[in-house]
Amino acid sequence: MNFHFVSLFPEFFDSPLNAGLMGKAVQSGIVAFDHVNPRDFTVDKHRTVDDRPYGGGPGMVMMLEPLGKALDSIERPGRILMMSPRGRRFDQSMARELVREQDVTILCGRYEGIDERLLDLYPVELVSMGDYVLNGGEAAAVCMVESVARLLPEFMGHEDSGEEESHSAGLLEYPHYTRPDEYQGHKVPKVLSCGDHGRIAQWRREEALKQTLHRRPDMLAGSELIQEDIDCLRGLDRTMLGRNLYLALVHYPVLNKFGEKVAVSLTNLDIHDISRVSRSYNVGGFYAVTPIEDQKALAENLLSHWLTGAGSKANPDRAEALSVVSVVDDIQSAILDIQSRTGQSPLLAATSAKLDRRKNAPAPLTYDWVRDRLERQPVLLIFGTGHGLADEVLDRAEGIIRPIRYLDEYNHLSVRSAVTITVDRLLADEF
Ligand SMILES: C[S@@+](CC[C@H](N)C(=O)[O-])C[C@H]1O[C@@H](n2cnc3c(N)ncnc32)[C@H](O)[C@@H]1O
Repeated sequence: MNFHFVSLFPEFFDSPLNAGLMGKAVQSGIVAFDHVNPRDFTVDKHRTVDDRPYGGGPGMVMMLEPLGKALDSIERPGRILMMSPRGRRFDQSMARELVREQDVTILCGRYEGIDERLLDLYPVELVSMGDYVLNGGEAAAVCMVESVARLLPEFMGHEDSGEEESHSAGLLEYPHYTRPDEYQGHKVPKVLSCGDHGRIAQWRREEALKQTLHRRPDMLAGSELIQEDIDCLRGLDRTMLGRNLYLALVHYPVLNKFGEKVAVSLTNLDIHDISRVSRSYNVGGFYAVTPIEDQKALAENLLSHWLTGAGSKANPDRAEALSVVSVVDDIQSAILDIQSRTGQSPLLAATSAKLDRRKNAPAPLTYDWVRDRLERQPVLLIFGTGHGLADEVLDRAEGIIRPIRYLDEYNHLSVRSAVTITVDRLLADEF
């Protein structure tokens, strides 16, 4: 396989592409590298390859002509990839895709990047090594080339080396051990010396599942899991982030369609559905907020029917769900209850179907941000009824979560749907 590097610093590649297995692969002709320096295609005496950006701003931009001529000089460029933090995220499946090519050309940017018109002139595919910024594309290119080349038959000596590795089957790899049997009191797991290949394979699969659940639970959404895998995952400890999540459904103060502050009646449907969501996602608690006495009595009546009355015998599952509900007068009472349960003050995150268009309104909270907070403290998510939460509730919160379907005009969801979607975005199946 031939890799053609277009780089201002060809010397960068000398050592990494000559060491270890890669050096051997070059010697045996499995891979070949060549280098083209855009500086060799300049016409002025300073051999200039960069210029100031149109529109101003810091840094310099790589000029079109030396880059274009450098690309033209490559006889069989194959796919032309440009390393860029704006590109498609490189991963194992892209490595498997690239290893089928005979030739690959890799353009390494420097400075602020390249003149964008290069992408109009050549079929350049942008490839990113991750969501961070390097000084230049060379280090990124070395990572990519190494992960592609090692998939070539004969590169690693034994063919199946790549098959069981992390990311090959949508899971992280199981842990490895070698001699000695015991080191500073730490022993190698017994099963690995039992000689029973079936048991060892099963242990390794379970360890791969465990590693993935604990280190990269996000990967499980895309991995192929059979029934045994799911049973194994169910038996493992996991971070139950939902325990730190509390929901409040506010019936006062909310707005009516004229923007006036009103109280809205509590509904059977909301209490049932949101409690079922709360139980399914192992949420810490669900507060039905209303200061109105007859509404509170209605809620207590409903709860006692299902928790201790006839409903509890007819449908114990429902009783389990409704046991997470507390009826409180106001948000302050919910906060005090969370403090007494957890010893911590909850972060308040409000929700709204509307963007906050007030002048100087802060950027809405993101799901990633809220999930991150859940790792550290209880979070009370506040949902409104009627036409949404009154300003006095919104102002009390740390922020408002970005509306569901914020890019579209129509996003009128029932509060039950909004709760379900929001909780699922925060916790998914794995948290
Ligand atoms: C200093 S960076 C330019 C970053 C650019 N101004 C931006 O914000 O996207 C210079 C070059 O490093 C390479 N580079 C930086 N970070 C990278 C990454 N995460 N993946 C791939 N290439 C990267 C690219 O070739 C880029 O043109």
